Amino acid sequence: MASDKSPVVVTCTAPVNIAVIKYWGKRDEELILPINSSLSVTLHQDQLKTTTTAVISKDFTEDRIWLNGREEDVGQPRLQACLREIRRLARKRRSAGDGDSLPLSLGYKVHVASVNNFPTAAGLASSAAGYACLAYTLARVYGVEGDLSEVARRGSGSACRSLYGGFVEWQMGERADGKDSVARQVAPELHWPQLRVLVLVVSAERKLTGSTLGMQASVDTSALLKFRAESVVPARMQEMTRCIQARDFQGFARLTMQDSNQFHATCLDTFPPISYLNDTSRRIIRLVHSFNAHHGQAKVAYTFDAGPNAVIFTLEDTVAEFVAAVRHSFPPKENGDTFLKGLPVPPAPLSDELKAALAMEPTPGAVQYILATQVGPGPQVLEEPHVHLLGPDGLPKPAA
Ligand code: DP6
Repeated sequence: MASDKSPVVVTCTAPVNIAVIKYWGKRDEELILPINSSLSVTLHQDQLKTTTTAVISKDFTEDRIWLNGREEDVGQPRLQACLREIRRLARKRRSAGDGDSLPLSLGYKVHVASVNNFPTAAGLASSAAGYACLAYTLARVYGVEGDLSEVARRGSGSACRSLYGGFVEWQMGERADGKDSVARQVAPELHWPQLRVLVLVVSAERKLTGSTLGMQASVDTSALLKFRAESVVPARMQEMTRCIQARDFQGFARLTMQDSNQFHATCLDTFPPISYLNDTSRRIIRLVHSFNAHHGQAKVAYTFDAGPNAVIFTLEDTVAEFVAAVRHSFPPKENGDTFLKGLPVPPAPLSDELKAALAMEPTPGAVQYILATQVGPGPQVLEEPHVHLLGPDGLPKPAA
């Protein structure tokens, strides 16, 4: 362990998660407490991850942060809330007598650098991976142990679900102080090895209405959202947990699609209305339903967050045929060989019957690329020194 004098450098990675029962709406804006529980699947970090380095040193005069290589305002309220929370937990630990091994003063300032290996704010839950990684890395650097839901949640609600691998629920809790609003693993990473995830990137641009403002408007104006939170989600949480535990793909697929659709219905019920889906998203929805109808059962499921990109769930034995159906419906323009990224998917023939069942005029270029991935583990600590994004001087290392 480092002496009291030398800087401590820690680098961690954290995953993206995709909700199958959506979080939309807060009952406390400051503490980021939700109006309903939610449930997500953690995606594999081989394909999508945030990497964060934190350094604390007695020589630093202020907290500083770099995101994707650019220095950002550390005074941003959510960032401040995370820093305050982690220091509070570290202080609590120290005063409880567990902190004798803490190497450095809590008064020391921190430098943080974070990079995503995917486009920020493209509807790919980058803030969830980002804040989960921040909470996890700060905890290591300040010697905090135990559940970090409270820290991650203060950055972005959905971030608390990225603290665990596999299948994760965020229990809304009841207390006004939020102590019982925590994330918990429902099933581990290797529970359902056949499950596959395809991210269909429709647009890599920043979203029009961010989730925070969007859900605030929905809470203020949508009667449907209130009904959803009170009367629909509790039973869905139970049913989704059962489907996951039983590896019931039919039930999982249906409920995932229904919950995505209801979330987007509450957006339309918001006044003025919000629409995150575009024509390509709606074509993907049609494609999935035609594909499933052709097979006489749910073989694939879609879900959409606050953006037009689709996330598809399917099983190992169906991936190749569904990718072929996407290629057929949305032929790549010039990038035929880079259209499919991530896990390898072998080419598969598309039967004339299936082509006819899809009954869609192809829309070239509408899907930019497909990223194939699977369920993955929670945050990781990286041990090799070369992975640090900041040097011992606390400044970004020049890009290699
Ligand atoms: C549609 O967690 O981004 O992705 O708590 O305001 O930061 P804030 O919102 P955020 O909202 C995510 C909304 C969603 C659904 C979900 O992930 O559950």
